[in-house]
Amino acid sequence: TASPTGPRHPGAPQGRAWRFDCYPERGVVVTRELCEARNCCFIPASSFSAPGRNGVPWCFYPPGFPSYSLVSVKATELGQTGTLVKTVKTYYPKDILTLHLELLYETDHRLRVRITDPSESRFEVPIAVPKATEKASSPAYSVELSNEPFGIIVKRTSTGAVLLNTTVAPLFYCDQFLQLSSSLSSQYIYGLGEHRSSFLHDIHWNTLTMWARDVPPTELTNLYGAHPFYLAMEEGGTGTAHGFFLLNSNAMDVALQPGPAITWRTIGGILDFYVFLGPDPASVIGQYLEVVGYPTMPVYWALGYHLCRWGYGSSNATWDVVKNMRNYGIPQDVQWNDIDYMDRSLDFTFDPATFSTLPDMVKDLHSHGQRYVMMLDPGISSIQPEGEYWPYDEGLRRGVFINHTDGSTLIGKVWPGLTAFPDFSDDVTHEWWYDNLKRFHDKVPFDGLWIDMNEPSSFVDGSTVGCPDTELENPPYTPGILGGLLRAKTLCASAVQKTSSHYNMHSLYGLLEAKASAWGQYFDIWMKGLVSNHVSSQSLSLHPPPGMLTFNLLGVPLVGADVCGFSEQTEEELCVRWTQLGAFYPFTRNHNAIDQKPQDPPAFSPLARSAMKQSLLLRYSLFPLLYTLFHRAHTHGHTVARPLLFPKDVRTYGIDRQFLWGKSLMVTPVLDPGVDFVVGYFPQGLWYDYYTGDSIRSKGEELRLKAPLEHINLHLREGAVIPTQRPNTTLFVSSGQPLHLVSSLSEDGSAGGELFWDDGETSDTLETDQYAHIVFTVVKVRSDHYRPVRSHSVHGGEGTLRPLQTSTLT
Ligand SMILES: *[C@@H]1O[C@H](CO)[C@@H](O)[C@H](O)[C@H]1NC(C)=O
Ligand SMILES: *[C@@H]1O[C@H](CO)[C@@H](O)[C@H](O)[C@H]1NC(C)=O
Ligand SMILES: *[C@@H]1O[C@H](CO)[C@@H](O)[C@H](O)[C@H]1NC(C)=O
Ligand SMILES: *[C@@H]1O[C@H](CO)[C@@H](O)[C@H](O)[C@H]1NC(C)=O
Repeated sequence: TASPTGPRHPGAPQGRAWRFDCYPERGVVVTRELCEARNCCFIPASSFSAPGRNGVPWCFYPPGFPSYSLVSVKATELGQTGTLVKTVKTYYPKDILTLHLELLYETDHRLRVRITDPSESRFEVPIAVPKATEKASSPAYSVELSNEPFGIIVKRTSTGAVLLNTTVAPLFYCDQFLQLSSSLSSQYIYGLGEHRSSFLHDIHWNTLTMWARDVPPTELTNLYGAHPFYLAMEEGGTGTAHGFFLLNSNAMDVALQPGPAITWRTIGGILDFYVFLGPDPASVIGQYLEVVGYPTMPVYWALGYHLCRWGYGSSNATWDVVKNMRNYGIPQDVQWNDIDYMDRSLDFTFDPATFSTLPDMVKDLHSHGQRYVMMLDPGISSIQPEGEYWPYDEGLRRGVFINHTDGSTLIGKVWPGLTAFPDFSDDVTHEWWYDNLKRFHDKVPFDGLWIDMNEPSSFVDGSTVGCPDTELENPPYTPGILGGLLRAKTLCASAVQKTSSHYNMHSLYGLLEAKASAWGQYFDIWMKGLVSNHVSSQSLSLHPPPGMLTFNLLGVPLVGADVCGFSEQTEEELCVRWTQLGAFYPFTRNHNAIDQKPQDPPAFSPLARSAMKQSLLLRYSLFPLLYTLFHRAHTHGHTVARPLLFPKDVRTYGIDRQFLWGKSLMVTPVLDPGVDFVVGYFPQGLWYDYYTGDSIRSKGEELRLKAPLEHINLHLREGAVIPTQRPNTTLFVSSGQPLHLVSSLSEDGSAGGELFWDDGETSDTLETDQYAHIVFTVVKVRSDHYRPVRSHSVHGGEGTLRPLQTSTLT
């Protein structure tokens, strides 16, 4: 029995920061009795813990708590295997007492660890990951295994830094409760989406829950996406970084504590994780994306300005907004409609009265080089008279819907009333979905889809008839899910999908719908980013860009909040500042809720309208740079909107009110009301004001910048050459505009950059050699003379480029 103070192993980390929670269940007041029934230590904390956050645990594992031992380790072609055994059962049902451990030295910078049940196959995330064929020859990591209790220690060979040490708390592996803890190498942890929080996570007893959920972004709740990956900057100012990815889609808690340490607590699947060695943050992200897949190259117009709102009410009213934008010469590439275009909220229909001119509007958009995107929800109305709604009738015929365990169709409730939910884990569903899209496209030639509500969201818990009382519905441990139940505002966890139960498949629903929507490449559909672009909020002062930066780390670069805010009334100043900031979101869409006043640029005063127009023209002028950055994301897993995380400068580690495009263009937006200045941090070096060319030589300091309402601060880092173009009101027209290069010379007079250019629409231009990739360099020839930018085409695309003009900031 544990003594209250807890004996410790000599040398073990001391103190409260290292107490691992033995009673994470929510809504339970942990008593000594409950705690000691688990053979844990009980010490009620006297200190104050912030409301909503679980503070220092009162009940925690004592040293020597039963865990697994490692036996029979063998060398294999790719690493090692071993067997983990345990004799004492835990307080959760169905302990798996014998486990198979597999260490895979996949590349010099990637280690994979799998812990599985040798006697029974368990659910694994159905995504293709790269397979190594030979063991890494000179890994940047070393692995030590602790036998008793079992643990894995991963070190960076070059510095000896301990990146992972799982001996810090007992390992759990029960059917529905798997838990792995580790020390962290520092307090600098990023990623772990999707949550509303600062870019740099707070590790003070902060538990993040993952389980896809449709809810306005709120702190401390699970949100739309689930991304169990973190990036960590290592201690000691070396500037090295590593990453960790748990390949698991079940509902989970990720508990951070000040040790610094982390606990992964998932309720299904297996423990299958990767460690990425970087060594710099950009390489870590690239290595992570090598596993989960690089982002899709967006079609050029996806990078233009998008206008949307819920409740235009009619196609004519929507069309009027587009015409107004044209009259004022304000850039716009894409017009959207929210759900109100539909007839009785039915998918694949449009309202024959209020949206009768929708097909004409779409044709008009096309004739102006503009595009149309509309919302589409997965819920298919199940209550239309037979023969009157093809999507449902045909769906039933083909058996595409998710069922209850008894084989009946699961019915939930969404906008059109009662609905069935397509099972996108089945290929048959993909064909049916495609047929629906094609039938609708024949009437309304849309260009893109906004696939929404695919958490999947339902207005009832589980189904209209509830859910059966099973182990999947009521697991022994439920992570900190909003609503307290897996089925809260979604489908029954026990619901049956082709690949597996909804319990396992829930957080993959949106991803699989996105795959179905791109099937056949028939439409110009771009999805990545739109799947989870709800990083929206009411108030700019409360919502700087951390969500956007986090998504860029997670391989979703095409991201941006709803410009000017979705819910609540916007204000002119807020909307101007937000449009300026939004001009630098990789994805920029103005969107608001039903019953709010219009917030498209023409709805404001001439002064505000002109400020918005200027910021959008600025974005359009920078399109060649943005497009090139997306190419880099697509081919190398680089970020587009990039945090100011300069590895060697610890002062940049927490900055999320400024960011960069690529490595050179720094954006310092105003995020507070009623000010005409902004304070920004300038990492050491030479920076140029993008508009005036004035230079700032920073020692690594904060600077106060002028920021009148019509101005967004932009600075170019030394040593860059960036491609720009003369802007126009659509990117299509702009693509024929003259290109321009801006270079910012470094102290030694050099600069470099690149341009990727193709027709903006054809996919696979890289594979078919229909593109230009040009590298630019500037060299100093005499003390005051710089050879004009020299360029050479690296690939294909002869004759596709206009003459280049150049300017140099010195
Ligand atoms: C790993 O953690 C254990 C338990 O806290 C500790 O005793 C050990 O020293 C750690 N090992 C390393 C290499 O840090
Ligand atoms: C929309 O505008 C067209 C053309 O001006 C007009 O014929 C039609 O009646 C309008 N539709 C509605 C629903 O107001
Ligand atoms: C759901 O039930 C229908 C009708 O029995 C069947 O055709 C379909 O395959 C079932 N779907 C799943 C995922 O089991
Ligand atoms: C856009 O291009 C058109 C035609 O080339 C031109 O008339 C117009 O002035 C341009 N607009 C802007 C804002 O440059």
